[in-house]
Amino acid sequence: MSDKVRVGLIGCGGISGAHLPHLSSSEDVELVGFCDVVVERAQAKVEKHGGQAFDNAEEMLDTVKPDATYILIPTYAHGAPERSCIQRKIPFLVEKPLGIDPDDLRKLVKEVEASGVIAMSGFMNRYRKSINRVKDLLADDPAILMDGAWIGGPPLVKEGDYFSTQPIGQWWPVKGKSGGQMVEQVIHTVDLTRYLGGEVVEVFAYAARNFNQKLPNLIPNYDLDDAMVLSMKFAHGGVANLMSCCSAQANGGVFLNVWASAHTARFTDWAHHVKIFTAGQEGSEDIKGDIDDIFPTEDRVFINAVKTGDRSAIRATHADGARSTLLALAANESLLTGQPVTVQY
Ligand SMILES: NC(=O)c1ccc[n+]([C@@H]2O[C@H](COP(=O)([O-])OP(=O)(O)OC[C@H]3O[C@@H](n4cnc5c(N)ncnc54)[C@H](O)[C@@H]3O)[C@@H](O)[C@H]2O)c1
Repeated sequence: MSDKVRVGLIGCGGISGAHLPHLSSSEDVELVGFCDVVVERAQAKVEKHGGQAFDNAEEMLDTVKPDATYILIPTYAHGAPERSCIQRKIPFLVEKPLGIDPDDLRKLVKEVEASGVIAMSGFMNRYRKSINRVKDLLADDPAILMDGAWIGGPPLVKEGDYFSTQPIGQWWPVKGKSGGQMVEQVIHTVDLTRYLGGEVVEVFAYAARNFNQKLPNLIPNYDLDDAMVLSMKFAHGGVANLMSCCSAQANGGVFLNVWASAHTARFTDWAHHVKIFTAGQEGSEDIKGDIDDIFPTEDRVFINAVKTGDRSAIRATHADGARSTLLALAANESLLTGQPVTVQY
């Protein structure tokens, strides 16, 4: 490998804008290829960052032969791009969630592991100081109860609405394409419950439906659950309850509460600011969540791993991220069966 890590992107939509600032300003990274099935999106990135544009991932990998790739595609599109990378032994960072078909995802995990390539999943919250401080405390004082939520509004056809102006609006509101809000978005919190609380063995879910359908300007093709509650049982005996909601237009937010015997941690907002309370002590330990530096931190871990071959700083491998994805997909299975589901990893 030359001094620079030569990087190619597969998928040039919204999330590429979170990774590109660090990649394009890093002296040890060269952006050599951009691929998107809508090639104009790849061309727009080339105009800004250089490299070559493609509408086909295999063609990009074979033409520019990158040292590493970012796979930044919708939930339904996973599988083929990862396989194209591992066949060519190209390390990749793949954004969450890692797939929509549990059987294919379990198969893919085995293929990735057999290939030996560096494969990282984009659960950037695992690099937050606030999260890791609480993880350290829970090592000797395990979580007994957690509850968390992402509460937001519905995707509307409305000036300025993110979903009606961005490509994500074409697939996010369709459950068969995104997996639904619990899989596509609240998966960050699903992943944190595993990161902080260990493996989840069983889940049960209820959903609310047909409230958003009454809205006159609901985005076409919307068929999501308007809200979901997901109960989880951990291998170590603790329990958690997570909620998703995309029907609250007045107010919402992101939170996660963790209760252990001697510690309570209250995380708030996307940045996961935390207040930590300790039994017998006045006040709280407060840690501000990382905001602008969280994607650069994650990107640096990936680029360094590619440069050195040392994977020890990676906190969410592809295999680990797949487990969080399979857990979130098990919630959909519970909705379909009306039964508790033993999570198959
Ligand atoms: N880590 C985070 O906080 C975070 C935030 C936003 C999005 N994401 C994740 O990133 C992924 C992409 O989200 P987005 O907001 O960029 O969506 P997007 O719709 O804006 O962009 C996805 C792009 O992928 C392209 N694409 C689809 N299939 C492709 C293929 N086979 N090959 C090449 N390009 C393909 C689409 O044309 C589109 O331009 C999603 O899984 C999402 O959950 C993560």
